[in-house]
Amino acid sequence: MKIVLLGPPGAGKGTQAEMLVKKLFLPHISTGDMFRAAIAAGTDLAMEAKSYMDKGQLVPDALTIGIIRDRIAQPDCREGFLLDGFPRTLAQAEALDQMLADMDTELDAVLNISVPLDNLVTRLTGRRMCRQCGNIYHMTYNPPKDENTCDSCNGELYQRSDDKEETVKNRLTVYENQTAPLIEYYTNTGKLKTVDGDQAIGKVLVDLGAALGQNWA
Ligand code: AP5
Ligand code: MG
Ligand code: ZN
Repeated sequence: MKIVLLGPPGAGKGTQAEMLVKKLFLPHISTGDMFRAAIAAGTDLAMEAKSYMDKGQLVPDALTIGIIRDRIAQPDCREGFLLDGFPRTLAQAEALDQMLADMDTELDAVLNISVPLDNLVTRLTGRRMCRQCGNIYHMTYNPPKDENTCDSCNGELYQRSDDKEETVKNRLTVYENQTAPLIEYYTNTGKLKTVDGDQAIGKVLVDLGAALGQNWA
């Protein structure tokens, strides 16, 4: 299955993706995670991406599309993949359609996680991530047992540099202007399924499964 997860910053794409890929045996492809890994490794490309990410702006399409083109050409993507955070501009969506057409395939579903804007700032400013395994926590909604330590690997928890309140507000504006138009784009292809993301994490997963024709209740 070839799936796109769509939704504003903080909608729960990463949280749901971790669980979806285990159930569906798909590679989890998150452009945000790929950029953060490159930044940690200190590559030149990453330094360019970082300058945009720190301001809450999108990394230029040419760079982002190139990264996805290389990634989905890998053998582990042959049977499918779950894209998290790509595409997020019309140009990226069109490029993805073209890449898939060139491979004689197409998307199966676009899952849109919908959360009221008011909740997103709280979700993002309270988020903590594990430096070691990438697990996602929230100090109120999904707290770790110890506030500085990952439950599953004992790694150190940190706050993403773009989760400061000012940067979060920029990211939400960028989403409204550049990414929200994809909802109409994918509605027109008949592939969009919208799920209410303003529910408990486990219930959102059940609804995403139902949108894919799976019974995980
Ligand atoms: P990226 O890393 O993709 O960030 P994002 O899209 O802003 O989304 P987030 O990762 O912040 O949110 P999420 O939906 O994954 O939510 P999460 O599950 O963590 O991108 C970062 C940057 O990279 C971009 O700003 C851009 O610069 C660049 N970039 C990436 N892709 C790009 C592209 N295609 N083109 C150009 N630039 C690109 O959950 C959030 C919090 O809420 C957590 O604390 C979680 O515990 C909590 N939570 C989750 N679900 C629930 C629930 N149901 N109830 C209560 N709390 C919940
Ligand atoms: Mg994420
Ligand atoms: Zn961890």
